[in-house]
Amino acid sequence: MAGKGFTVKKNWDNPIEHAMPEGVCVPAEMRIGPVLVAPATVLAPMAGVTDTVFRRFIRHASVFSCDQRAEVGDQEIAAVEADVSNRQSGCGLLMTEFTSADGLSRMRETKRRRYLTFYDDEHPIAAQLFGSNAETLAEAARIVQDTGFDTVDLNLGCPAKRVVGCNGGSGLLRDLPKIADIFRTIRKAVTIPFTVKFRLGWNDAQIVCVELARIAEAEGLNALALHARTREQGYSGQARWEWIAAIKGAVNIPVIGNGDIRTPEDAAAMVAQTGCDAVMIGRAAAGNPWIFRQIAQYTATGRYDQPTFSDRHHMIRAYFEMLLAEAAATKELPRDARMGETAGKMKQFATWFTHGVPGGAKLRKAIYTAKSGVEVLEQVNAFFAQQPSTEASAEQEAAPSPFPETELVCD
Ligand SMILES: Cc1cc2nc3c(=O)[nH]c(=O)nc-3n(C[C@H](O)[C@H](O)[C@H](O)COP(=O)(O)O)c2cc1C
Repeated sequence: MAGKGFTVKKNWDNPIEHAMPEGVCVPAEMRIGPVLVAPATVLAPMAGVTDTVFRRFIRHASVFSCDQRAEVGDQEIAAVEADVSNRQSGCGLLMTEFTSADGLSRMRETKRRRYLTFYDDEHPIAAQLFGSNAETLAEAARIVQDTGFDTVDLNLGCPAKRVVGCNGGSGLLRDLPKIADIFRTIRKAVTIPFTVKFRLGWNDAQIVCVELARIAEAEGLNALALHARTREQGYSGQARWEWIAAIKGAVNIPVIGNGDIRTPEDAAAMVAQTGCDAVMIGRAAAGNPWIFRQIAQYTATGRYDQPTFSDRHHMIRAYFEMLLAEAAATKELPRDARMGETAGKMKQFATWFTHGVPGGAKLRKAIYTAKSGVEVLEQVNAFFAQQPSTEASAEQEAAPSPFPETELVCD
């Protein structure tokens, strides 16, 4: 169910560099109903990216232990805001990629497992659904609840033609009464917290996010996540954070801000400018899986580390090992298909992960022709073996977004 039908531009359109606002940081925690999200950071759902292996990889890469005290200027900074905090993990909530409610309710148990697989170390975790039929969505939400997810999320942001064409995703933004009916029907069907992720509206002439947020609160939803762009905007221009502030001012349930966070400074700036209760990060996490850890470290100490070359090598190998282990454990597909899929993911990740790394273009060219996961790993090992350890501070390649121009995605 990989996202198809919308293009992400190669470079981020928003060149704004935010300075870390004084005294404001990403909150240490947020609650979605009874579910504690600590710290208040969320990995955005990304079709074709945020599968169980990537999610667990992010969780583990995010852990930042702040037992040590840090010196910032002439001050010794103690720790984070609350006890439950960045000690646990720098990423407070994981989300699945969007899953078709229609498909889920029709699938056989074994196939469902493939889409809804998660492990114990992924809690708290949300499953995201898309669809346009209230009863089907409610049935799928029940399946999500029975599978053990902590929360269920409804996608009202996907701009892809094939989803919008069936009135799913952002297509529904043109019909608020229908959205209200869907909210009500899903709410009645499950007891776990229920959230929605949406865009500003269909286009600039039809911005509905504030009204939609009020409807969601009235229908008993537990939190909202806004990707602050219209459907027509796709990924172009800048996310308009002022609308995150507007919905924050309109409702009392938690608001998760999303769009264009690339650095810990951006995350803090979003909190400062909008008052949002949590931040959600998508594209930046694919190229820099350390971003949650960096936010945690920044919150705790006022500074953050960049991964060194050897950190990068270690991370990429850890991710590959996780992919290979998952492929070996998954029985739903024939072995060849599993290994082919795994090699594809390894290439994809190595490609993202070496954007901005000196010499990365050469590696990307080399792995493009690799025929197996083992070959990809060999190329990666050879690449990192050649790099002097001081290269972490060397000139960076100008490639801010890891997603190639032609990639088709959904939200
Ligand atoms: C490859 C890709 C796949 C995506 N898939 C989904 C999805 O399944 N569900 C969803 O709600 N949003 C999806 N999105 C949108 C992201 O969740 C997020 O809203 C968007 O990328 C903006 O956040 P960012 O600027 O931090 O990337 C996707 C985005 C990308 C780049």
